Amino acid sequence: MCGIIGYIGSRNAVSVVLEGLKRLEYRGYDSAGVAFFADSRIEVRRSKGKIHELASLIEPENPKSTITIGHTRWATHGRPSNENAHPHRSDGIVLVHNGIIENYLSLKQQLTGDGYHFTSETDTEVLCHLIAKHAKSFPFEDAVRKALTEVKGTYAIAVMKEDDPDRIIAVRKDSPLVVGLGEGESFVASDIPAFLNYSRTVIFLDNEEMAVLRRDGVTVTGLDGRVREKETTAISWSPSMAEKGGYRHFMLKEIYEQPRAIADTLRGRFNAENGEVYLTEFGLRREDLETVKKIYIVACGTSYHAGLIGKYMIENLARVPVEVDIASEFRYRNPLVGPQDLMIVITQSGETADTLAAQREAKRLGAKVLTICNVLGSTSSREADAVFYTHSGPEIGVASTKAFTTQLVGLYLFTLALSGIKRSLPADTGKKLLKELLLLPGKVESALSTDRQVSMIAKEFFKARGFLYLGRGMNYPVALEGALKLKEISYIHAEGYPAGEMKHGPIALIDEELPVVVLAPKDALYEKILSNIEEVKSRGGKIIVITNDTDNDVCRISDQCIMMPETNPYLMTILLAVPVQLLAYHIGLLRGCDVDQPRNLAKSVTVE
Ligand code: G6P
Repeated sequence: MCGIIGYIGSRNAVSVVLEGLKRLEYRGYDSAGVAFFADSRIEVRRSKGKIHELASLIEPENPKSTITIGHTRWATHGRPSNENAHPHRSDGIVLVHNGIIENYLSLKQQLTGDGYHFTSETDTEVLCHLIAKHAKSFPFEDAVRKALTEVKGTYAIAVMKEDDPDRIIAVRKDSPLVVGLGEGESFVASDIPAFLNYSRTVIFLDNEEMAVLRRDGVTVTGLDGRVREKETTAISWSPSMAEKGGYRHFMLKEIYEQPRAIADTLRGRFNAENGEVYLTEFGLRREDLETVKKIYIVACGTSYHAGLIGKYMIENLARVPVEVDIASEFRYRNPLVGPQDLMIVITQSGETADTLAAQREAKRLGAKVLTICNVLGSTSSREADAVFYTHSGPEIGVASTKAFTTQLVGLYLFTLALSGIKRSLPADTGKKLLKELLLLPGKVESALSTDRQVSMIAKEFFKARGFLYLGRGMNYPVALEGALKLKEISYIHAEGYPAGEMKHGPIALIDEELPVVVLAPKDALYEKILSNIEEVKSRGGKIIVITNDTDNDVCRISDQCIMMPETNPYLMTILLAVPVQLLAYHIGLLRGCDVDQPRNLAKSVTVE
């Protein structure tokens, strides 16, 4: 989705902003632009395509501005083009925007009547003209406030004014925006990595808050103009955590970071000796869980797949019923949620618009909300009653990898905490399940050692037109995740299916051309899935199996066999995720795809 960055200080602002835009590339975009001061005028440069195309447009000019705003656009209203790229300009006002102005058509009509001329197909241009109109009668800040009271929808904006070269105004509602503080300089961006090289002291803006950035500091007010005292937060990630660190792609780096990310997510959260999971790490009290009758999980994309596995964990071990919903469906199905229920929101970014809407709906209906989230200070974490932070570190590759496996760790810990409170498990079983967690980072390391084998398998199958992923029970959501990863990264059509359901449809697809990835660890459904593999084999399908059966029964009937270490069935889902991530990565690479920024996708989907 769109990315915003603004800088004011003594550095070369255009360079800082172009560098920041590069760091926001992972959000997904199709055009980019900047606005900077040159001889008391604001110059705007915009370009369809990648940041380097914009940079090559600007570099010959070598602008020396010390105040600049920049934007990467992910098209919603109007196709990707130079004209639709931001910043937009109206009289002396220049603006970048992330979000959607829902009432733009009626505002456009009014503004056209007032004599404003539109040069783009965007909803954003409406807001720019509206601010310009009010700036004729009001000071800059008030003009922005007045305009925002007239728009409906979502926004994060950064605005400059030609006759006011000492200020950037930034405001947000339902789209993320964070302010960075420095010595004699200030930053604003959609996400922290944009300015992490320069500032690690940040202020998270809340909805309808306005930050006025000057060289000597930042003032935050509400849309009513009243000053808000804001807390600053120190960011502990190092800038190098948001860089590739020698790997060819962020995705590969993030796949390989999983042992570390899991270890960080586990650290200090339980005592394996006495079997205690620290509820405070979830921001919950015992009483919060004692009375819970039902749990709703909502999420999108990969996080939704984590939720599906969470259902198996919670229902099997804690014996509390769980419903899992795709967030965009939840709020429109008139859900039967109430004060006796707990909603678990799962979101890497904490900014996914559909997930936030579902979270708000559950709150409105009186449920308590726990979010499992990776981004500190994100909207979901601030609006939830309780937060469990996964400590993956920044995830930059659009296709989620380490966020997924650490979400599963969070769900597993939550399940064991709940099982303790509900007394659903013998104490020894609880302790044993917790102890197994201590071994998990090492086992993920072993799962990663299949990389070479997986890359050879990728070479054999990367030209396939489609893939089928099969799993049963808890491994079925891993099959869904494997298929999603492959689609995202390689643009090959793939389907995830419960293996037992294959005979009701997908079996018709099977021939010598179709690779079938089967998740077949030696668990309660092992014998059943062996039969499903036979069904594929007898129709000529190519079988790639991922298992931990060292007796090799399943390997004997498969074309390729990837071996995982031993663990319990719940944590096995985490191990199985590793080779499916690697398979998608290698196939994407062999097909020449942009694995970190697949076409049309965005990392943080901030529109509905
Ligand atoms: C986008 C990303 C996915 C992600 C999904 C949910 O579609 O491309 O990788 O799983 O959003 O994001 P969230 O931040 O809420 O987990």
